[in-house]
Amino acid sequence: MIIGIGAEKGGVGKSSTAWTLAAYLATRQHVGEGKKKRLAKVMLVDTDTQRTSSKWGALRDPSMPLPFRVMEKISNPAPEIIKLAEDYDAVVVDVGARDYAGLADLARIVDLWIAPTRVGQGDLMSSLEMATALNTVHSKHKNGHIPLCFLVNAVPGAWNSTEAQDAIDALTAALPTGKVLTSTIRDRRVWRDAHKLGKHIFEMPAAAREKAEAEFIAAISEAFNAYPQA
Ligand SMILES: Nc1ncnc2c1ncn2[C@@H]1O[C@H](COP(=O)(O)OP(=O)(O)OP(=O)(O)O)[C@@H](O)[C@H]1O
Ligand SMILES: [Mg+2]
Repeated sequence: MIIGIGAEKGGVGKSSTAWTLAAYLATRQHVGEGKKKRLAKVMLVDTDTQRTSSKWGALRDPSMPLPFRVMEKISNPAPEIIKLAEDYDAVVVDVGARDYAGLADLARIVDLWIAPTRVGQGDLMSSLEMATALNTVHSKHKNGHIPLCFLVNAVPGAWNSTEAQDAIDALTAALPTGKVLTSTIRDRRVWRDAHKLGKHIFEMPAAAREKAEAEFIAAISEAFNAYPQA
């Protein structure tokens, strides 16, 4: 299984989502049955020139190994990722902010593509542009359709703010392809605190991570349910 986390816009939560998804699958997702049941073997491929995922790993206390592996592959990553998918149960790709040709090259090989977006007008417009660009390359995907879903991330403001729903409605109304997840992730400090320590949110104290964890799992579950072949 290959899961791409990609959007054209910077700072929307691509690396956070990739990093957290890799941790989620490696610590909570089992494969196999009976005596052969084990945790998923996960590789995070950092294809971003900024190397955020790799840098977070370097901030980590070396006595606490990550539950997944991280490798960098910046130029022409698609063939390497396809090969890795033969050895790993899940390959999560931090796509980084690439041009449309680079996005399309990776989008055609994934089983699931999650595109994080924030709620700002510029973020939403960029998401629409990306969906429009990917809408022209469906036929290059092995299933004839890129399994694209947008995740509204880092929603600011009070719990009863309508900003998240407004963003979902605006995107859904204009989207030429793909789905918008109804589960959203709020702006919570625990995300930044975890990254400072090179940790994933599941390692943070229960009281600090509870809400972020529940939001993340709800969003990821919705994405997998939206494209069950993943
Ligand atoms: N839900 C959230 N709540 C609070 N902070 C968040 C959340 N998601 C991400 N962040 C923070 O926002 C910043 C940008 O996130 P991240 O690096 O994941 O984005 P990105 O899309 O990968 O950015 P880039 O384009 O630079 O690669 C980071 O400091 C991260 O800790
Ligand atoms: Mg990043």
